Amino acid sequence: MGRSGPDPVAAEAIQALERAGVSVRIVRADVADEAQVARALAEVRETMPPLRGVVHAAGVLDDGTVLNLDRARHDAVMAPKVAGAWNLHALTAGRTLDFFVLFSSVASLLGSPGQANYAAGNAFLDALAAYRRARGLSALAIDWGPWSGVGLAAAGENRGARLARRGLGSLSPEQGLRAMERLVRLSPVQIAVMKFDFQQWCGSDATLASSPLLAGLAEENTGLAAAGNASGGVREGLLAVEPGRRRRALLEDHLRRRVAQVLRLVPDRVDVGKPLRALGLDSLMALELRNRLEADFKLKLSATLVWNHPTVTALVPHLADRMGIPLEAVEPADAAPVTMRDDADLVRVLNEIEQLSTDEARRLLSDQIPQA
Ligand SMILES: NC(=O)c1ccc[n+]([C@@H]2O[C@H](COP(=O)([O-])OP(=O)(O)OC[C@H]3O[C@@H](n4cnc5c(N)ncnc54)[C@H](OP(=O)(O)O)[C@@H]3O)[C@@H](O)[C@H]2O)c1
Repeated sequence: MGRSGPDPVAAEAIQALERAGVSVRIVRADVADEAQVARALAEVRETMPPLRGVVHAAGVLDDGTVLNLDRARHDAVMAPKVAGAWNLHALTAGRTLDFFVLFSSVASLLGSPGQANYAAGNAFLDALAAYRRARGLSALAIDWGPWSGVGLAAAGENRGARLARRGLGSLSPEQGLRAMERLVRLSPVQIAVMKFDFQQWCGSDATLASSPLLAGLAEENTGLAAAGNASGGVREGLLAVEPGRRRRALLEDHLRRRVAQVLRLVPDRVDVGKPLRALGLDSLMALELRNRLEADFKLKLSATLVWNHPTVTALVPHLADRMGIPLEAVEPADAAPVTMRDDADLVRVLNEIEQLSTDEARRLLSDQIPQA
């Protein structure tokens, strides 16, 4: 269903389906117009087997900065999303459907400069999915990242490349369809499907990184750069974590990502114990890495840094030391094992535990857990 007929790409896909034995009916209707949707559904009822599912994939773009979005430009983008999805919801609400899929966008989750109207329209789809599910109706909102090759993102000049530079890569149609097939079966209420480099995204623009959603993720995420970007600096991200295994792992993870960035590798390919030179680091890359680390840690570092400390593992204590940030947990003075002889002892110990701050309690507990 669409306002105009299928374009050549869609027509070709429809022909392929028909050749495979699928019966396809093309209906011209504006999904934002209730009467037209009602007519389309009546046609389905009269001429086809019972309706089992709905895929809402209608959408248009009209990008502009908020100050330039007048009512007409706002409504044109909102209509197929808000009125369109609502019409499909309301006019099928009495039926049991196997699926009700809403094509939403990561614009509603991450924000998207110049797309306030589009982000808001998609946020409505996300909310509608939750609303339907709360009423026992099938619903799945997929917040898609950009697709390559076909559709709105690919049609925009440089849109895909611009987003990729920020850390949001494009999905191929095959990847998108494979994901959709799984999601219809798994049926979460709302899920984002995107090729997302969290660090790159946060690093590309401070306002993007300051979204509450990403700040929350940064706290949960082990990525130090992300935590740092969200909270003001990489150093701060490191200091926000207790000394010990986790702090060391954060620093190591950060260095691994930086090395991977310079080597154009995925972070998992960087063996932290292997000399950087053996991983392919040449002298220009060594300088690039040094510069990035200087910016990250606000330190002046030697040009021979990575030759004097040739592995990620060797860089960790050196850089921590240069920043004056301890990596090892300091043994609490009162961490000695307590022997309880009688009830009075037990009460005393319980009282002491009650006095502990959450952090002190956590530290005592983690000291009791054997380290791997
Ligand atoms: N492509 C991406 O990267 C991407 C990323 C995230 C989300 N999405 C979402 O995925 C969906 C499909 O996008 P696409 O990229 O495949 O775009 P597309 O190729 O432009 O397809 C959008 C379709 O929506 C139809 N449509 C628009 N307004 C309509 C209306 N009022 N009533 C009925 N049909 C209407 C259009 O047909 P007519 O113009 O003939 O009506 C067109 O067939 C959209 O909802 C979009 O927001 C796409």
